Amino acid sequence: MKYNLVSNSVCKDEYSELLARIDSNSDYWRNATSPVEKKLRGQHFTPLSMAVQLSVMSSPNVSVKSVIGDPGAGTGILSAALASRLQNQNVSKHFSIYGFETDQRLHEDLSRAWSFFSSQAESNSDYQIQSDFTVHANSLLERGEIDGLSKPDFITTNPPYNKLSSKEPLSLLLKKHGISSPNLYSAFMVLAAKWVADDGHLLAVLPRSFCSGAYFKDFRKFLLENLSIEHITLYKSRSCFKNVLQENILIYARKRKQAGRIRITVAKDPDSKPEYDLVLPSADILNESHWSLPRTVKDIHLYLKNQKRNRTFPDAGYRLSTGKLELHRQSGHLTTKVVYSSDFDNAGSWTWGEKKKPRLLETNSKNRLSLPTSGGYVVLKRISSNDGDEPKRLMPAWLSRTTIGVDVVALENHVQYIHKKGEPLSEDEGKALVEFLSSDEAQAVMRTINGTTQINKPDMDRLNIPFGNSNEIRKSKTMPKVPLESGGKSSRYSEWIQH
Ligand SMILES: C[S@@+](CC[C@H](N)C(=O)[O-])C[C@H]1O[C@@H](n2cnc3c(N)ncnc32)[C@H](O)[C@@H]1O
Repeated sequence: MKYNLVSNSVCKDEYSELLARIDSNSDYWRNATSPVEKKLRGQHFTPLSMAVQLSVMSSPNVSVKSVIGDPGAGTGILSAALASRLQNQNVSKHFSIYGFETDQRLHEDLSRAWSFFSSQAESNSDYQIQSDFTVHANSLLERGEIDGLSKPDFITTNPPYNKLSSKEPLSLLLKKHGISSPNLYSAFMVLAAKWVADDGHLLAVLPRSFCSGAYFKDFRKFLLENLSIEHITLYKSRSCFKNVLQENILIYARKRKQAGRIRITVAKDPDSKPEYDLVLPSADILNESHWSLPRTVKDIHLYLKNQKRNRTFPDAGYRLSTGKLELHRQSGHLTTKVVYSSDFDNAGSWTWGEKKKPRLLETNSKNRLSLPTSGGYVVLKRISSNDGDEPKRLMPAWLSRTTIGVDVVALENHVQYIHKKGEPLSEDEGKALVEFLSSDEAQAVMRTINGTTQINKPDMDRLNIPFGNSNEIRKSKTMPKVPLESGGKSSRYSEWIQH
């Protein structure tokens, strides 16, 4: 099975100009809108190169006419890029485009974009603009339809990102249908999945954060039960949107039974040539508890090596807790030395790098952690991100009376600490754990499973540990190593192309 490189320059020159115009409209509105209003609207315009990359992820069949839905259409960049691509590749000659956009300021640009496309493509196309996509939630959830509109063959969307409180009518309606959606973007995806025609194509730009954690478990389950996830594009950079720092992914799904294989494209950012195309068994990486998205072949092998170990972090007796000290909620009368996340470096050495915040604080007993005469705890920075080539996600250090010179500390809440059900670890065990958490294997697992900037308990609970007590740590130097799955033709993961 061979795949072609995903190209960023699929559109012929004739449409490049149209798309560049739409892109400059997005720039205009981006600059004309205050940060507060952008946040309220969940408005972040997709860069042109990303819109084009998304449009080429689908593999459509030829048909005379294609119906395209564009919920949260903005200036129309996604539907215009998709229609241009379908027209270029002779997939369709005629289009019905349905856009939904609550920001009325954009409607004129939106209709102009589609009518330019229609006249340039010499296609007999029609389009409609409506305002709020979610007003159709009831009919979409009940019947999968919007009155007066055909079911789309394609939906392309970069849905608005906004928290959805569980008390809002949309949440309650979704709940009535057995779906919980903590954000407006996941609600849009649910409604889009209901609307798209059977075997139809759903293309979306989404934050990667839904791929892990308990909040989005129901959403992941919904996606897996209702769609076949066929292709995901990962970006190594978190700065793909102007003025937004967030890990985003592109998803291509079909409304049909889950395909056995999934393709993952990895690129630095939407403007660079993709580095890898990986074709993997979908069951290995997609399940409702998490979606594991490896960024390199090396990371896949290290992730699989870790999966083969049979003792999870909690099985080994470890627990992760968050430092209890919050600077803005301080009270008490016990003078205590405070440890911040910048006090230890990425290599686990104590540098006491925090110079601006108070080193000693009057605190109460609940915020203090007593250090034993022998042994201690492993501390971990809570915040890190998947940014760049091989980002370090786990940054541990050994916390003991010897390493920090006091008997009791207050850990600020950007510091996590690892204990054994409340008890400290022996020094041997603690240091072995620091070494393991710093290893390529543990880093690769965290890059693969964690789609947010925080290392939390569920993430650590999915890491397998090579030892469980001091005896095994002593023995571990002579223990047989778990082999890496070999590459090459015999590997289940051999069908990848490194570009
Ligand atoms: C993340 S932006 C994406 C815009 C455009 N699709 C793009 O990719 O550049 C989401 C858009 O959805 C719009 N929006 C927010 N809530 C909406 C709703 N309930 N119905 C329709 N559009 C909505 C926002 O105004 C914003 O323009």
